[in-house]
Amino acid sequence: MTVIVEQPELESEVVEKKVDVEENELVLDGGFEVPDTNAFGQTFRDYNAESERQLSVEQFYRTNHINQTYDFVKKMREEYGVLKRVEMSIWESCELLNEFIDESDPDLDEPQIEHLLQSAEAVRKDYPNEDWLHLTALIHDLGKVLLHPSFGSLPQWAVVGDTFPVGCAFDESIVHHKYFKENPDYNNPAYNTKYGVYSEGCGLENVMMSWGHDDYMYLVCKENKCTLPPVGLFIIRFHSFYALHRAGAYKYLMNEEDIENLKWLKIFNKYDLYSKSKVRIDIEEVKPYYLSLIKKYFPEKLKW
Ligand SMILES: [Fe+2]
Ligand SMILES: [Fe+2]
Repeated sequence: MTVIVEQPELESEVVEKKVDVEENELVLDGGFEVPDTNAFGQTFRDYNAESERQLSVEQFYRTNHINQTYDFVKKMREEYGVLKRVEMSIWESCELLNEFIDESDPDLDEPQIEHLLQSAEAVRKDYPNEDWLHLTALIHDLGKVLLHPSFGSLPQWAVVGDTFPVGCAFDESIVHHKYFKENPDYNNPAYNTKYGVYSEGCGLENVMMSWGHDDYMYLVCKENKCTLPPVGLFIIRFHSFYALHRAGAYKYLMNEEDIENLKWLKIFNKYDLYSKSKVRIDIEEVKPYYLSLIKKYFPEKLKW
């Protein structure tokens, strides 16, 4: 199937230039090799590539951008922040997640547990001493359990995809920005200015992000008194905030701690994105290591 998209070259050129600049500024890795193509034979995060998957991704973002309002996020944080639905361990949630595939992701067509272990193992190889980062990689997507019937079977647009602040103007660098015109906040003067309800340097901790698996998993970690360092929680909460870590938008909301944390988020993101490939992981072989990390940083059972 051929999908025709408005002005595809213009958009992708702008994105690619920004990426080059960002990555040159960073001293990133311990030798992690970035593959050229994803599981579908296309370049990563190419939302304009002609593909059968592309049309459904665009539809996905249209629904997402129309519905993610300040009030919606507030309501979801209140509803899901009480963690009264399920009690289970981290490993049990990994297994639960295995039933789902992320519709918003143009690169991935594998069970989620493969993605979790692929990114965690890739990080572990390059940063053997940062065990908190291995575990962060393993758990970063566990909030996707929101798709499960026990969590109310939330629609994909309220669980996955790129995230962005609500309560202030939607930055143009957000993927498929044009659909925000149909979001009620777009014309609300309380929410549509540069700072909106926030102030300069207020810190990302105080910024409400579009609702999805990132913010939910952050709340789960915090409320269950997980002992991962704050930067681990930062990575979990903002790992889909591409407007910030790719395009450099919203930096005026950051405080000094955010600036430090962002360095690790950019490192992590490389593994999140590019470890999605056909490399298979022997789950039983690596499981004991991850169980030991879970034991170190989490209680045995968590409230979800
Ligand atoms: Fe994610
Ligand atoms: Fe991920």
